[in-house]
Amino acid sequence: VMTVDTKKPGAIVQNTMYGLFFEDINYAADGGLYAEKVKNRSFEFPQSFMGWQTFGKVELKNDGPFERCPHYVMLSDPGHRDRRTGLVNEGYFGIGVIQGEEYRFSVWAKAPKGTAGLNIQLIDPSTMKERQEFASAKLKITSAEWKKYEVVIKSPVTNAKARLRIYLDGKNSVCLEHVSLFPVNTFKNRENGMRRDLAQALADENPGVLRFPGGCIVEGVDLETRYQWKNTIGPVENRPLNQNRWEYTFAHRYFPDYYQSYGLGFFEYFQLSEDIGAEPLPVLNVGMACQFQNPDETAHVAMDALDPYIQDCLDLIEFANGDTTTVWGRKRAEMGHPAPFNLKMIAVGNEQWGEMYFKRLEPFVKAIRAKYPKIKIVGTSGPDSEGKMFEAGWKAMKEQKADLVDEHFYRPEAWFLSHGLRYESYDRKGPKVFAGEYACHGRGKKWNHYETSLYEAAFMTDFERNADVVHITAYAPLFAHVEGWQWRPDLIWYDNVRMFKTVSYYVQQMYASNKGTNVLKLTMGGKPVAGQEGQDGLFASAVADKANGSVIVKVVNTSKTPQDVSLNLAGMNARPDVETITLSSTEMDADNTLDNPERIVPQSGTLRCEQGKKTTIVNDRLQPMTFRIY
Ligand code: AHR
Repeated sequence: VMTVDTKKPGAIVQNTMYGLFFEDINYAADGGLYAEKVKNRSFEFPQSFMGWQTFGKVELKNDGPFERCPHYVMLSDPGHRDRRTGLVNEGYFGIGVIQGEEYRFSVWAKAPKGTAGLNIQLIDPSTMKERQEFASAKLKITSAEWKKYEVVIKSPVTNAKARLRIYLDGKNSVCLEHVSLFPVNTFKNRENGMRRDLAQALADENPGVLRFPGGCIVEGVDLETRYQWKNTIGPVENRPLNQNRWEYTFAHRYFPDYYQSYGLGFFEYFQLSEDIGAEPLPVLNVGMACQFQNPDETAHVAMDALDPYIQDCLDLIEFANGDTTTVWGRKRAEMGHPAPFNLKMIAVGNEQWGEMYFKRLEPFVKAIRAKYPKIKIVGTSGPDSEGKMFEAGWKAMKEQKADLVDEHFYRPEAWFLSHGLRYESYDRKGPKVFAGEYACHGRGKKWNHYETSLYEAAFMTDFERNADVVHITAYAPLFAHVEGWQWRPDLIWYDNVRMFKTVSYYVQQMYASNKGTNVLKLTMGGKPVAGQEGQDGLFASAVADKANGSVIVKVVNTSKTPQDVSLNLAGMNARPDVETITLSSTEMDADNTLDNPERIVPQSGTLRCEQGKKTTIVNDRLQPMTFRIY
């Protein structure tokens, strides 16, 4: 019998409790959430024609209209009526188009010697029929000065592997820069927007926080390639390209053309946070390159040279919150958002550790506190969620009075099962916990499958029981392209036209959508229900939802046998109907897939209970369950 004391609502469950962590890994930004279809649209990749094939007379030039993206191409008459000049873009693992959807082709162009024509086509490279073209449009470039031109193309078919072909129509030369193809139908219909299905999945998770932009990309392979937010705002055409730290590899998956266009930049991250109802949590560089790749002090910013990095933090707060008379607030307004984004917290350093980090963090904390005393500062305990490094990290964060400490743990099954009481022993007087990156990584099975999601669900009862000290959590990583991943498991997978939510996603969603407002004490045999010993593999937690007077109990059975669970809701006049949400699978190794995206999804039901009588719920081994009781 599990007993829930419904009379004494305890600690508040923060609205931020279940969040999201976005990083451009696994082609999560370009080629993923960011809806642009054209790879290397500004010809700024180190080999300027990466992603492109050219034919006829195509010349590369570098005195274009955008200072930080100076390259462009000139298409000229190939010299024979049977020749053509043009170029083909391969997209990210192809260009995905959906039947009946419209796509906005846009380009900056000029025709130096009089009006020039362009033929724009969507082609299917796998067929030889009708010159492979299945949709097309024509554009006239009328000006000798740089101007933006646009045309909308509707796709009559769905094709995940199409290409964009552009060729010169007529004899006059034309110059092209920032060649773009965007779905018209983006999330919230924003022009420089997000892929609708993927962004909707984020909104549907009901996240309390969106942490961005990483992850290791905040640090970069070296300082030169660190993420610099100021390069990611303003007109997209003038955002400089940056190498992606994840171009280098795990598991022999090497993507030498993995770059960040910064089309999804800090303005877009703030806007996305707002659009999905999550608090923004930006992470800024603390003056350090990735410590795994750069163990020596000399690779990092000298202590007396940190000022520009500190200024980046202060300016970011002004960009998010400053009024339109401030320098950075005005830039936000110019981008279309005069109202502040209401930033409440900032993380300094991603997954840093040791004295090298602690000493650098100090001047950041001092400067932020002095100028913005209300902004919460998130420090980090480093990559290890236990042991000496971890203890040193927490000690230093306490000394520096960080508001929250970001802990990361990618651990195997046994760790998740044996840490069901992790946060009970945490100091209640120090900084709050931000479990900022975690996932259960199956031993020998480092991919998404039901069993690891079940253990995540079990472990998460501990977040909830300890909501007084655990204020934010986030699974990681969030996204992965099926053809472009470097790291797994991940929460959401996709190709160019389809996506699926993993069981881990549904676990997150079940918690985030049923987080309640206050913790309730739940015991079995007088103890919290967690861990294998004494609790028979059961994990459970309970919350009250003051908004509607309901009680929500989460029960996860990780044992090998089905178990009867009786709930004693002490002090509650329950209505007879209990809503249930169940997530279950008959196979521990199964998960959803692109072809079978709804194989394992939450099921809603009701259960009839009678006041004063015992109702037993059989909690199957494979069923983490949520009960909402009114
Ligand atoms: O989530 C993948 C990586 O794991 C993150 O970039 C980093 O913070 C951690 O090491």
